[in-house]
Amino acid sequence: MLLGCWQRYHIYAFARWLNFKPMRDYIVLYINGKECRVAGADAFLPLSSYLRYVQSATGTKVVCEEGDCGACTVLSGAVSGDEIAYRPINACIQNVYQLDLRHVITIEGLKVDGELNCVQKSMVQNQGAQCGFCTPGIVVAMCSLFDKKCESKTPATEEEIRDALTGNLCRCTGYEPIIRAGLETNTEEAIALRALYPSRQIIESIGKHKGDAPLVQYEERIFFGPQSISEAVEFKAKHAGTTIIQGGTDVCVQMNKRGFDPKVIMSLNNVSGLNELNVEDGILRVGGRATLAQLEEKVTQLIPEFADILWVFGSPQIKNAGTLAGNIVNASPIADTIPFLYVMDAEFELTGSKGVRKVKADSFYKGYKKLDLQSDEIVTQVNIPLPKKSSTLKLYKVSKRKNLDISTFTAAVVMERENDQIRSARIAYGGVAEVVLRLPKTEEFLAGKKFTEETFVAAGKIARGEIRPISDVRGEADFRLILAETILEKFFHECNEEQAAWAR
Ligand SMILES: Cc1cc2nc3c(=O)[nH]c(=O)nc-3n(C[C@H](O)[C@H](O)[C@H](O)COP(=O)(O)OP(=O)(O)OC[C@H]3O[C@@H](n4cnc5c(N)ncnc54)[C@H](O)[C@@H]3O)c2cc1C
Ligand code: FES
Ligand code: FES
Repeated sequence: MLLGCWQRYHIYAFARWLNFKPMRDYIVLYINGKECRVAGADAFLPLSSYLRYVQSATGTKVVCEEGDCGACTVLSGAVSGDEIAYRPINACIQNVYQLDLRHVITIEGLKVDGELNCVQKSMVQNQGAQCGFCTPGIVVAMCSLFDKKCESKTPATEEEIRDALTGNLCRCTGYEPIIRAGLETNTEEAIALRALYPSRQIIESIGKHKGDAPLVQYEERIFFGPQSISEAVEFKAKHAGTTIIQGGTDVCVQMNKRGFDPKVIMSLNNVSGLNELNVEDGILRVGGRATLAQLEEKVTQLIPEFADILWVFGSPQIKNAGTLAGNIVNASPIADTIPFLYVMDAEFELTGSKGVRKVKADSFYKGYKKLDLQSDEIVTQVNIPLPKKSSTLKLYKVSKRKNLDISTFTAAVVMERENDQIRSARIAYGGVAEVVLRLPKTEEFLAGKKFTEETFVAAGKIARGEIRPISDVRGEADFRLILAETILEKFFHECNEEQAAWAR
């Protein structure tokens, strides 16, 4: 469907407004050290298609097209201080416009002086490939691990290799030869990516384009890459229905698998400062384009319980692209971060043409995918109060597979108690209604009660009455009711075990 004349008029008016600023009608992307200026239809392609069909870099394979198998893994490098920091991502669920001013390294770009690198040699020696379809993605993911090992020259442990390959599926090898290849990779030979591609050269080149915001159009599609929040808000206000694509780990799956075809698209990837995470006055402030990987790193020490949930969230590729804001606005009732945000009383900062508004997490969701978010507003910051030392926080994710799986049921419980008396409890469940729910009756029941098994058994029964789960492919309604009831007993026993261990 073509854009209406009125909408086109606004886009051109916006382009004219931008005219007093430098602007470009192409995306600048670096592939294996080479600058590519991508305009027109190509700018709207998935990165995997652009690599394979335009750049003839066919080493990047495509299997699932939904971020699950990792066959399409490439490294995406973004400027970080004086360096370029590389992270594995799924090229099938990234469109070219999302990679403006990024350096992409594909399997073809990982050779050292035209020879196989140490990971590739070890894969050959250990017969780590059979049909070979998954192999480029696995090598790229492992090269990312060995890039981090370059300085220490220490070998990778089995746990590190398994973690690095969480997002890579292989249907042939049974994984043992692949793991062995990782274990036997000669770290002495590992070459840092910044040695293969000197950062300075690429950063200098990026610097020449940095001041120009891309506004790229092809037929009825338009992409805008603002550099400031005010530009982003202005654009969104002028174009109702603009789709923000950040990591694209939700939107691009909908595009690939459900025929979603957004016409006016904006990425916040070049908005400076929006990916920062800081702690101020006991509050963790997460920028609107901070990735889940950045968040995981930040909370490992600060909120280990949340870090544990982020560890089983998706795969490294998904977390390197996906953002906290994307998880919030996608508004899935089984989104893994939302129950935590509810019980921590987190608030979202929404920036629109009238300024900044703050909304509490548990009042942001008005119904299934219905949000308290105006059409010109953008989630620019998430403020999360840190758990008090006196409180106990526990988060639960129930899914069929440990990693890289959509949850069937999620729960967050934070409790304050004094000796054996519960002072207060905040509870949120996901996967039990069309939005994540707080459980006010159960919370009220627990306040002031004795910290005993009987209390939590009784609380579980009240919790069961507060939810209305449905049956779907991930679980029957009855199963979810049982989980809702018994998870509170689990909470009690875990607290008791920790207390006993602490006393020993
Ligand atoms: C293989 C795979 C595994 C996954 N595993 C999990 C999992 O374990 N747990 C889980 O909860 N989710 C999971 N997801 C879903 C997804 O990764 C997360 O929801 C992620 O946080 C989305 O972030 P994003 O930046 O990629 O969002 P996008 O896809 O870019 O955007 C999602 C939505 O948010 C909107 N949006 C994004 N940023 C803003 C902003 N700043 N302001 C306003 N609107 C905005 C977009 O317009 C869109 O509507 C998985 C997805 C895949 C493909
Ligand atoms: S093709 Fe499977 S993750 Fe991209
Ligand atoms: S070698 Fe065939 S899928 Fe991995």
